[in-house]
Amino acid sequence: MSDVVTVETTARAAYVVAALLFILALAGLSRHESATLGNRLGITGMTVALVATVALAVDRGISATGLSLLVLATLVGAAIGLWRARVVEMTGMPELIALLHSFVGLAAVLVAWNGYLGVEADPSGAERLALEAQGMAGIHSGEVVVGVFIGAVTFTGSVVAFLKLSARIGSRPLVLPGKNALNIGALVLFAGLTVWFVVTPELWVLGLVTVVALVLGWHLVASIGGGDMPVVVSMLNSYSGWAAAASGFLLDNDLLIITGALVGSSGAYLSYIMCAAMNRSFVSVIAGGFGIEAPASGDTEHGEHRETTAEAVAELLGSASSVVVTPGYGMAVAQAQHGVADLCRLLRERGVDVRFGIHPVAGRLPGHMNVLLAEAKVPYDVVLEMDEVNDDLAATSVVLVIGANDTVNPAAMDDPTSPIAGMPVLRVWEAQDVVVFKRSMAAGYAGVQNPLFFRDNTQMLFGDAKDRVEDILRAL
Ligand code: TAP
Repeated sequence: MSDVVTVETTARAAYVVAALLFILALAGLSRHESATLGNRLGITGMTVALVATVALAVDRGISATGLSLLVLATLVGAAIGLWRARVVEMTGMPELIALLHSFVGLAAVLVAWNGYLGVEADPSGAERLALEAQGMAGIHSGEVVVGVFIGAVTFTGSVVAFLKLSARIGSRPLVLPGKNALNIGALVLFAGLTVWFVVTPELWVLGLVTVVALVLGWHLVASIGGGDMPVVVSMLNSYSGWAAAASGFLLDNDLLIITGALVGSSGAYLSYIMCAAMNRSFVSVIAGGFGIEAPASGDTEHGEHRETTAEAVAELLGSASSVVVTPGYGMAVAQAQHGVADLCRLLRERGVDVRFGIHPVAGRLPGHMNVLLAEAKVPYDVVLEMDEVNDDLAATSVVLVIGANDTVNPAAMDDPTSPIAGMPVLRVWEAQDVVVFKRSMAAGYAGVQNPLFFRDNTQMLFGDAKDRVEDILRAL
């Protein structure tokens, strides 16, 4: 066996090992207890894949400049990734993920354009002749155009998601007149241009597909309201996977195809689960809020709210027999989870039945609240899912809403014109008393006012959630 075959076959074997490690990593990440192991398996898989790729490039005669660029790009990328991962706040995770997805999309566009130019801009015409001889010319053009399309939609969609999640632009959905017709029109145009490009791969057609896809990606995500952004992030995760798989076909790289398909299908599955949890139509969300109309103005008069103090809440808790805590994004911002855990322990020692009700999209990323509570050592058995606790709320003495807003908003059930209408919520208002911890009367992530704050059995405890919880602990 010659040397070349050895490196080729070893690299291909390494790709299979890396693919298996990625599958095991996904399995590990799906459970709390095995998540760290899952992460390590993923890192090992990626290291194996990178080493095999560099070895393959060297074996195939990459130039010294090419190799230096490859190593440099890997080192710079790794350094930036390490730095961002170390400094990112948990609350900033979704926007970081959205930004990373935009890189995958952009990379897919560049790979596809490179695939096109490598063949069509070859002055000798040898590349094209070789493809035609194998009967692969049309397939190659198809891979190029699909790669550009998915990559460009992912790129601009992710940039808009990043801008919305980081509050650099408003989170309200953009509702252009005839927005559904615009999206469908763009898809029909893409289909027509694809056929054209496969028959005659002209530069202007690919240019037009790129522009259409960039605009479509931007419009799809801009049309989706803040409350549905979690689904959008996981949907873009899925798109980025398919974009990577498309690049894999172009580069004839099996591992990229496998990894892209894993990311694409797991992202699609996560989007589906989240849609089911939020009572959203999967098709409607991936089609850019298809069928969702302009939200109502939201300036309804709600009446007066009632304020309370930490001492009064301590007294209320002192006489409660059951307490449910519903945490949200504000608990993460205030880093109040340790105080909340202490409060839970203290009340349990005094014989109060304390449980936590976790909404599937509380906070800013799936499992956000569970991770914070686990970090503060709250026992798993008192941390319940929304569906497990909702029916018990009517028989609960006190609900402590700690920095949650949209996830406890009755408008989702009562007001069909609300942008969050139909989203299941924690029915905290059914409890005897509700105490809402927040700093002001400001709206939540979806930008809608919360009628809960004006109910007769609700009291507002203003201030930073961590400070207020500590005040209550002292008073207790
Ligand atoms: P939100 O609706 O985001 O409301 C959080 C509340 O916390 C705000 O009203 C804010 O009010 C309060 N707050 C902020 N900092 C605080 C602090 N230091 N101390 C006390 N309160 C503080 O929260 P939620 O109920 O968790 O809902 C999550 C929202 O994010 C949903 O709309 C969801 O769709 C969306 N989202 C979720 C995800 C995932 S996957 N979980 C991802 C992206 C988006 P003040 O400013 O008045 O204090």
